[in-house]
Amino acid sequence: QEDQFKKVISHAKEYGYIFGSSEIYDGLSAVYDYGQNGAELKKNIKEYWWKSMVHLHQNIVGLDAAILMHPTTWTASGHVDAFNDPLIDNKDSKKRYRADVLVEDYAEKLNLKAQKEIDKAKKRFGEAFDEAQFVATNPRVVRYKTQQKEILERLGKSLTNEDLDDVEALIEELGIADPITGSKNWTEVRQFNLMFATKLGASADTAQDLYLRPETAQGIFVNYLNVQKTGRMKIPFGIAQIGKAFRNEIVARQFIFRMREFEQMEMQFFVRPGEDQKWYEYWKETRLNWHKSLGLGEENYRFHDHEKLAHYANAATDIEFNFPFGFKELEGIHSRTDFDLKAHEKHSGKKLQFFDPEINESYTPYVVETSIGLDRMFLAVFSSALKDETLADGSTRTVLSLPAILAPVKAAVFPLVKKDGLPEIAQQIVADLQWDFNVLYDEKDAVGKRYRRQDAAGTPFCITVDHDTLENDTVTIRHRDSMEQQRVAIADLKGMLQKALEI
Ligand code: GAP
Repeated sequence: QEDQFKKVISHAKEYGYIFGSSEIYDGLSAVYDYGQNGAELKKNIKEYWWKSMVHLHQNIVGLDAAILMHPTTWTASGHVDAFNDPLIDNKDSKKRYRADVLVEDYAEKLNLKAQKEIDKAKKRFGEAFDEAQFVATNPRVVRYKTQQKEILERLGKSLTNEDLDDVEALIEELGIADPITGSKNWTEVRQFNLMFATKLGASADTAQDLYLRPETAQGIFVNYLNVQKTGRMKIPFGIAQIGKAFRNEIVARQFIFRMREFEQMEMQFFVRPGEDQKWYEYWKETRLNWHKSLGLGEENYRFHDHEKLAHYANAATDIEFNFPFGFKELEGIHSRTDFDLKAHEKHSGKKLQFFDPEINESYTPYVVETSIGLDRMFLAVFSSALKDETLADGSTRTVLSLPAILAPVKAAVFPLVKKDGLPEIAQQIVADLQWDFNVLYDEKDAVGKRYRRQDAAGTPFCITVDHDTLENDTVTIRHRDSMEQQRVAIADLKGMLQKALEI
């Protein structure tokens, strides 16, 4: 698993998908830049989400709110008070950690110990091994598993109650050491607010303290009435938005999974109070189906319903994806009640209500939100697409089997050789296709090498112009995944590509 993840990171760099931010200065931790192919893949994911959420729903419209918002927004939303992570410092190493992650990692180690015992026994007993029986009865495994469960339960409880003394006590009782230096000399645990602060205005005394938004959702809430009135929207309706969000994450690891600057694709669906549960279920199912429709493998998704709820929610679930480091949150679906709109009503003094003609009543709508990290979606798509294959002749190839609709380049056009007028025809094909599809021209190296290059870059089709083209206006089209080749008329190329990009 670790090797596969390393491969994903190096492939993303080698093929112009993702670079470390300001790399010539040794980078900036947990901030990344998207290269020539990454920018295209990201744009295609956004477009795919936007089309299915906004264009395919007559009652959902889009919004593009500013990153900077009036500071009271974040008092009202609860982020100033409650958007915290528990933080601890090691007095010897001066390293800073998220206290809950230290405890979680410790619990995970117990799980690994249990797994080791299971694997050993599996080897020893071979065919006759009954894993369930072993897990239930082997004293060591039972001890590790029970201890792991108890620790996580206690951690969950203390985080819910914001009882940091108990997290501190856990670290001490378990004798958790600094993972790098082994020191157990810890400070107390304290709350750390994840919002990035900045200042508006030049003069020191009049400058206003602002935050970079930690979620895009608040831009939607504060515009609820603007959109509802000007769009003449009737409940139920949704507002969707794609944009940057910023969090000063303490633990920033796992590549683009947890970043300090990232993008969210969020949709707030405004509903009649009492119908929130129904719409929560509806969006759970709809979003899972959206993921499945991309064909990354249905077994790679699962729901994880939350027991510990954020300050604004009455129900919440994650759609988890099987990343190279295991199942982790990809998207959240939250039933946010009327928490946000009510809070903004209170802090702004403005009514944010809806007059419902069907029941002849005004109310503050309830909200069901779907919130997905664009960068996490990118990682899900990219990591599941990257494969090493052994071919029938024993040779190997690296292929990035991105869904065609998301692939940065849809087709690469090659002249078989750099003479006899073939490059001119290939360039003409590029010119005919480039308004509708992102295509590229490549004449360097032998054609086999060019195919491999496009396989690894994720291009679903290669179009080759050869000497037969001169005779009958046909070309070879090669399919990335099957490597099959087919002869088609130049005039049919556009239609074929169009069809292949349907989902
Ligand atoms: N408006 C609700 C909200 O922001 P969240 O669970 O905190 O909820 C939603 O975030 C999604 O945003 C997550 O499921 C994840 O995909 C993405 N996300 C959150 N923090 C992130 C980070 N530091 N880096 C990358 N993506 C992140």
